[in-house]
Parts: sequence; C-alpha cells; structure tokens
Amino acid sequence: QLMREISGVKVLEHQVKEKLQLDKVIVVPGNSDKERRVKQELGKACVSYLKDVIKDHMTIAVTGGSTMSLVAESMTPLNKKDCLFVPSRGGLGEQVENQANTICAQMAKRAQGEYRLLYVPDPISEKAYQSIIEEPAVKEISNEIQNADIVLHGIGDAITMANRRKTPKSQLEKIKEADGAGEAFGYYFDKSGNIVHKVRTVGLQMEDLQKINQVIAVAGGTSKADAIESYFKQGQSNVLITDEAAAEKLLKG
Ligand code: F6P
Repeated sequence: QLMREISGVKVLEHQVKEKLQLDKVIVVPGNSDKERRVKQELGKACVSYLKDVIKDHMTIAVTGGSTMSLVAESMTPLNKKDCLFVPSRGGLGEQVENQANTICAQMAKRAQGEYRLLYVPDPISEKAYQSIIEEPAVKEISNEIQNADIVLHGIGDAITMANRRKTPKSQLEKIKEADGAGEAFGYYFDKSGNIVHKVRTVGLQMEDLQKINQVIAVAGGTSKADAIESYFKQGQSNVLITDEAAAEKLLKG
C-alpha cells in the first residue's frame, strides 16, 4: 500500500512539473482540505527541501497563512551561519496568527536563525504609505526583503482570501467581477494569470521574484487547484510543494 502511494505521487510530481514548467515539484499523499495532518506534511516537506538548498548567510523571506504557520511548526535548527528570516510583505489584512511577521519570528526561533520584522499599519492610507516607505528603518528592511535568497510562500483561493482579509466591498466586487481565482503576496490573479487586484504594502513585489533563485510555493487541497494554476500562469516561483488532491485536480483542469 505505502509503496503504491509513493510511486503514485512520483508520477504526479513529474506530470505537474511538466505542466507548470517548474524546477521541482513535491507532492505529499492526501488532501489538506480534509486533514490537517496532510497540511502538516506539506510543512515538513518544505522544511526538508529548505534544508537541501540553504547555505550560510542566506536571507529567507516568508509569507503568512495557515500553511506557512505549519511550515514554521515543523522547523528545526538549520545549522547554518547567519541565516536571516524576514516577512515578504507588510500587513495584508490577516489575523495575527496568520501574519507573515508572526510566522517569520516563529520560524527563525525554531531554525535558530535571526529575524527582522516589518511594521506597517494595515490598512494604510495612500498619504501615510508614501511617507512610511521613505522611513530609513522601513527602507532598510525592504532592501533585505528584496534581496532575499529564498522565498517561502502560500497561495490561496482569491475569494477566500479577500473574505478572510475583510477586503472592502468595492474591492471584493472588483475581484469577483474580474473572475479572480488565485492569490499570493497580496496579488490577485484571474485564470489566465492577469493581476486583477493588488494590496498596497511594502516588501516583495512580483517583479522582484525574477532574480530570486529559490521561490518555493506551498499550497495544497482540492480547493486550491485553480488558484495554483492561475498563480503559475505568471508567477515566478520555481518550486511547488503540494498534495495529491490538488495535483490531481490541477492535471485534470
Ligand atoms: O496572506 C498570506 C498568504 O500567504 C496569502 O498570500 C495566501 O493566499 C494565503 O496566505 C494562504 O493561506 P493558507 O495557507 O491559510 O491557505
């Protein structure tokens, strides 16, 4: 039984890698929509992949979300010199436990690395935003983020994420009308990968991902298959860690 499961996921890994044209795909058995245990497996797989690629003096930028919080839970000491964890973007409207800052600090502690946080009011007016990005302390950490060596991020269903973040009604309508399918880094994508909405905040911008060698997406569950597909139409991530259920639906679609 176990052997059959293993060879099954290997086939899925290969097919998803071909379909999305990625450098690496890891598929864990099961469906994270149904079992928290499977989401934990995604976390463990992410930590073990991270350990394969991390080197001394690297900076790791991380996003928020429940999947990333399970990556943090699975983290163990990296045994590397001067590894710095930073949140990938400022506040995106998430609850404290799902915020990138919280997860970043937890991950760093478990990894026995350093961390720096990003304090940006959320939500923020245009005027305050324009002045806050000029603050030396904010500029400094933004620089660290934009020069990250590794990015670990979640992907979510667009409408689920807009609701979870209590997005203002006008913006929610805009995302719905544009057929928003996926979300990552505060960017909302339609099925073809066009950006239909973007949360204004500091930190990683879509174009920054191009120069980062390891951009690792961690997302699973049948409910995220369309989101994953929409994100990868234009997303610059080169690694996907997902589960069997999402992979199967992705290949059918
Ligand atoms: O808000 C941070 C974030 O990483 C989003 O970009 C992503 O859509 C979401 O969290 C994923 O959350 P979860 O892992 O809880 O589905």
